Amino acid sequence: MGKVRVAVVGLGSWGECHVETYAAMPEVEITAICDTREEVLERVGNKYGIKNRFSDSDQLWERDDIDLVNIVTYENAHCDPTIKALKSGKHVLVEKPVSTQLHEAKEMWEAAKSSGKFLVPGHVLRFDAQYAEVFETLRSEKIGKPVTMLLKRGRPRSLFKLYSRIHPVYESAVHDLDMAIWYSGSRVKSVRAYARSVTGAAVPDMLWSCLEFENGVIGIIESNWLISDQAAIGMTDAVEITAEKGSAGFETSRSGLQIWSEEGRFTPALNVHTNQNGRVFGALREQLTYLCSCILRNEEPSYVSFPDAIHGIEVAEAIIRSSETNQEIYL
Ligand SMILES: NC(=O)c1ccc[n+]([C@@H]2O[C@H](COP(=O)([O-])OP(=O)(O)OC[C@H]3O[C@@H](n4cnc5c(N)ncnc54)[C@H](O)[C@@H]3O)[C@@H](O)[C@H]2O)c1
Repeated sequence: MGKVRVAVVGLGSWGECHVETYAAMPEVEITAICDTREEVLERVGNKYGIKNRFSDSDQLWERDDIDLVNIVTYENAHCDPTIKALKSGKHVLVEKPVSTQLHEAKEMWEAAKSSGKFLVPGHVLRFDAQYAEVFETLRSEKIGKPVTMLLKRGRPRSLFKLYSRIHPVYESAVHDLDMAIWYSGSRVKSVRAYARSVTGAAVPDMLWSCLEFENGVIGIIESNWLISDQAAIGMTDAVEITAEKGSAGFETSRSGLQIWSEEGRFTPALNVHTNQNGRVFGALREQLTYLCSCILRNEEPSYVSFPDAIHGIEVAEAIIRSSETNQEIYL
């Protein structure tokens, strides 16, 4: 196989980032794109010169010119196209949350195992240099085993207009759940979570979850959608690990670039996806490059873990139950 032939399903803000990244990768050919919105299909198809455009993903499955499908549709609409793509013999990268229902996530994994194709969760932070360095530090035992972990994700209020379509445990906390499971190397035993709604949206805009892992590690995950827009910060995310022999951590909004212009001050988020003069880089490119290299070499993508993603959804369900019942939930 010379190039990996890719189809992207769902061309919203993140799906277009996938297309933009693939378009910059010489080892990839974008064979097809799909979105239910015709105007988006036409705009993205014209911008990246992609001829095969479909408004129904079912039109993709019979094609024999697709090796890998990226599912980048709404959070609660990942299961059906993922299973159909796997059954038709294609590898799949499915965006986070892999599903908003535990039984669906398990069905997706069963479909992957019986198809023999790769199923990779879109947990892009495993490919972010800072998050991955914390993992490498823990793995090397330089600071010993983790004792407590504090993981925070903060987003501007204006973004919540779009992403309040789903509970924040699935939109933002799911990233930190994957990090916490990865860093601790263990499964969650119990959960106590607290949710607040300041903006009056149907789902919480502030969620705190306290996790106890089977190996004794304690994790706190904060998911916050209340950052003032005037602060002009793309993202304010943090990790603080206290371990047996040391600690490790970072805060994204304080360590980066600041631009002061006539419009005010702005701190762009550069680590996940950036395009500078046609050079596309960041964690998303690292993730897609890794997956394509596994496909080209027919090597299992073992740096990522769909079973960990399934456990993340199991914990997410427990977090919602805990915050709604005011009780500790045992898994
Ligand atoms: N890994 C990350 O850092 C990251 C960042 C942003 C979003 N995401 C995830 O990516 C997914 C998409 O998010 P987004 O921000 O791009 O959302 P979005 O609303 O901007 O885009 C979703 C797109 O999917 C299309 N769509 C919906 N149902 C479809 C279907 N059945 N077939 C084809 N197209 C369909 C919609 O028309 C829309 O264009 C979500 O799961 C989200 O959580 C991940």
